Amino acid sequence: MDATDFIMGDAVRRLEAALAGYTGASHAIACASGTDALMLSLKALNLAPGDEVITTPFTFFATAGAIHNAGGRPVFVDILPGTFNIDPEAVAAAIGSRTRALVPVHLYGQMAAMEALMPLAKRHGLAVIEDAAQAIGARRRMAGGTPMAGTVGTTGCYSFFPSKNLGAWGDGGMIVTQDAILADRLRRLRTHGGAKQYRHDEVGFNSRLDTLQAAVLLAKLPHLDRWNAARRANAAVYDAAFAGLKEVVTPPVDPANEHTYHQYTLRVARRDALVVRLKEQGIGCAVYYPKALHQQPCFAPLGYREGQFPATERATAEVVSLPIYPELPEAHRDQVIAAVREFHT
Ligand SMILES: Cc1ncc(COP(=O)(O)O)c(C=O)c1O
Repeated sequence: MDATDFIMGDAVRRLEAALAGYTGASHAIACASGTDALMLSLKALNLAPGDEVITTPFTFFATAGAIHNAGGRPVFVDILPGTFNIDPEAVAAAIGSRTRALVPVHLYGQMAAMEALMPLAKRHGLAVIEDAAQAIGARRRMAGGTPMAGTVGTTGCYSFFPSKNLGAWGDGGMIVTQDAILADRLRRLRTHGGAKQYRHDEVGFNSRLDTLQAAVLLAKLPHLDRWNAARRANAAVYDAAFAGLKEVVTPPVDPANEHTYHQYTLRVARRDALVVRLKEQGIGCAVYYPKALHQQPCFAPLGYREGQFPATERATAEVVSLPIYPELPEAHRDQVIAAVREFHT
């Protein structure tokens, strides 16, 4: 405040360096939101009308909204019912002559099968934009290492929306990449296409990060691994408490993944009734997502029909996410467990 350094100030540069260090990426580019991180990454591909970008219909709207706003056509493929993440075989079947990129989403905090998607992308010359909005800190055993979500593809996109595992006090986002030339382009695109003031090499956007948000995130980042571990500990207690309950499936973790449980998401047979019961008891719970993206009115022109993505549609009817945040008091966790168990016995 004293330095009147409100936007893109020194703390933003320090946050970019800290995020590069934390994730293991060579370059980190701060921007205004996770949505913008996706949109800028996709804009950098110079999509032409009719170019296709393959993604999952079981995600937050921003994933496909960014594809549309970057000038691409979203092509949806179904998910794997276990992890809720995009099915690599369905991706392979959907690649065509207009395909330019893949946008896997690491949903709920566990990574998609990147070891299957990356060779596909390489073979077909496609960019891979990782939507890691929900998965900062998550890792996957692959290619002889355990890379972090966001660092495997062409770019990785994080969201600092306040409820995320690393949340700001407002909107914020970050792109990471190993590609220095792409990083320069992304820096230009986020500030109206100009590397220098009053010189615009191309038309870009206003997607700056507030210095205040960077300062908040710099203070929180050192705690992120501990908070993610606390989420995993809460998940382990839930898993044990719900094991064997009829009509309840706890969230499966792919053994290659270190899950960060942005959400702890059950599949249940009588979902809507359970949500009502939990809410009656003052228990915060939410459905991510009750409608898939191929079912959204704005994407009707894409021509998808009901029943086309059975695993996705089934998930929209069965999922419910329970409180999992790191500071969740034990008594509250016990109350959640008691309520879910009582409903199912
Ligand atoms: C999967 C996914 N993609 C993209 C976004 C967009 O991030 P933001 O809200 O920061 O724009 C979010 C979160 O809101 C998300 O959960």
